[in-house]
Amino acid sequence: MAMPLLPFLYASAVVLLLLPPPPPVAADLPPSNKLVFILAGQSNMAGRGGVLGSHWDGIVPLDCAPNPSILRLSPQLRWEQAHEPLHDGIDSNRTCGVGPGMAFANALLRSGRAGAGSVLGLVPCAVGGTRMAEWVKGTDLYADLVRRARVALETGGRIGAVLWYQGESDTVRWADANEYGRRMTMLVRNLRTDLAMPHLLLIQVGLASGLGQYTEVVREAQKGIKLRNGAVHMCGYTRQRR
Ligand SMILES: *[C@@H]1O[C@H](CO)[C@@H](O)[C@H](O)[C@H]1NC(C)=O
Repeated sequence: MAMPLLPFLYASAVVLLLLPPPPPVAADLPPSNKLVFILAGQSNMAGRGGVLGSHWDGIVPLDCAPNPSILRLSPQLRWEQAHEPLHDGIDSNRTCGVGPGMAFANALLRSGRAGAGSVLGLVPCAVGGTRMAEWVKGTDLYADLVRRARVALETGGRIGAVLWYQGESDTVRWADANEYGRRMTMLVRNLRTDLAMPHLLLIQVGLASGLGQYTEVVREAQKGIKLRNGAVHMCGYTRQRR
C-alpha cells in the first residue's frame, strides 16, 4: 500500500543532497532546467490512494497539490503541469489515484535541495500488477521507460534519479522472488548503459507488504543488491506487521 510509506519517500529527498547543483536557469526557458525523476514500478508507485473499486474520490492531500514548478511527461510525450492522478493514461487499464510522486516532488521543492528556481519533471512509467520479469530489457515496459527517459533528456532535462517502488507481485511465485535480486541488478545496469548514465541513481522503496508468501525473500533481495556506485538505497524498509 502506497500511503503509509509516504514518509519514507520524503526521506529519499535527503538522498538527493548528494546531487550536484543545477546549472544556471535560462530565464526565458525555465523548463530547460528540469530536474527529472523517472517513476517506475507497480501500483504502489502508480498510486491507488482514494480509489475504491474503479472510482477515484478526487481528494488531493495538501502534500500532493499541483505546483507550477512540477511538470509531468504526458502519455503523448509532452510536458504539462503535473497533478494527481500522476499516472493517469500511463497505468491506463486501471483507475489511478494518489501516489507518492507528487508528495516527493513537493517535499523536494520545499527542502530547497533541488536548487532555487528549479523545475521538476516527473516521468510516470509505473504499471499496476507488474512483476520484475515484465521490466527486464526486451519488454515493452522497459522500452517505454527508456523512450520516455530519453525524451525527457532531449527536451531539456537531466535525470536526478529513478524512483522504484515494486516487488509485491514478485512475492507470489518462488521463481520470481528468487530471481528478484538478479533481475533488479540487471535492470539498473541496463538502464545505466542505455541512458549512457553510468552513475544513474536509483532509489528503491523496500517492500513493507506483499501479495504472496515470499515477501521476506524479495525484501532481503532488495537489501542485498550490490551495485557499483552504491546507488541503490533502501528508503522504506519497515518491519511487516503480523
Ligand atoms: C492494457 O491491457 C492490454 C490488453 O490486455 C495490454 O495489451 C496493455 O499492455 C495494457 N496496458 C497497460 C498500461 O497496462
